[in-house]
Amino acid sequence: MTRSGLVLSATLAAAAAMLPAGAASALDDAQRQGNVYDHSFAQTQYLHHCSGCHLPDGEGVHHRGIPPFSGVVGKFLQHPRGREFLINVGGMRNGALDTRQRAAVLNYIIEAWGGDDVPADFRPFDEAEIEASFAAWRGDGPKLREQIRAELGALGVDIAPLRSE
Ligand code: HEC
Repeated sequence: MTRSGLVLSATLAAAAAMLPAGAASALDDAQRQGNVYDHSFAQTQYLHHCSGCHLPDGEGVHHRGIPPFSGVVGKFLQHPRGREFLINVGGMRNGALDTRQRAAVLNYIIEAWGGDDVPADFRPFDEAEIEASFAAWRGDGPKLREQIRAELGALGVDIAPLRSE
C-alpha cells in the first residue's frame, strides 16, 4: 500500500492520522464524487446507533461478547464475502438506520479501525451495494464469520474468535 501522493480533504484530515493510505484515499475520492461518505455524518450515525454496544472507541465490551473492531474489520475486507458479512451483521441489519446511514457507518468503522488491514483497492460502501446485499442475504452470519475466519486463517490472516459463553 503506497502512502505517496495522498491528498486529504479538510473534512478527513482529523481522522487521517490513524488511516492507512488506501482507505483514506478511497474515502476521499468517494467524498469528492458526492458519495454517501461524509465524516461527521458518519461519525454521528456510529455514535447514535452503534457506540452503545461497541463503545465510542470501538473496543467493544469483552464480557458481553462484543468484539473490538481494531485488528478485525479491515481483515474481513480481504475475503470475497467479507463485505457481505459486514453489511448484514446483526447490529447492522437490525439497527434503525436507512440505507445511506448504513453505508456511512460501515465506511466509518473501516476508516477508524481498519488500519493497515484494509486492502489497497478498498471501495467505499454505497447505498446500491447495501440494498443488493440485503436482498441477497441468506441469513447465516455466525456461520459465515467462521468460514471467513477459517479461510483467512489458512492464508495467515488471523481474526480473533468471538467470545462464546
Ligand atoms: C445491542 C448491541 C449492539 C449494537 C447496538 C450494535 N452491535 Fe455490532 N455487534 C454486537 C455483538 C454482540 C456482536 C458479536 C456477535 C455478532 O456478530 O452478532 C457484534 C458484531 C459486529 C460486527 C462484526 C464483528 C466481528 O468481529 O465479527 C460488526 C462489523 C458490527 N457489529 C457492527 C455494528 C455497527 C456498524 C453497529 C451500528 C449500526 C452495531 N454493530 C450495533 C452488538 C451490537
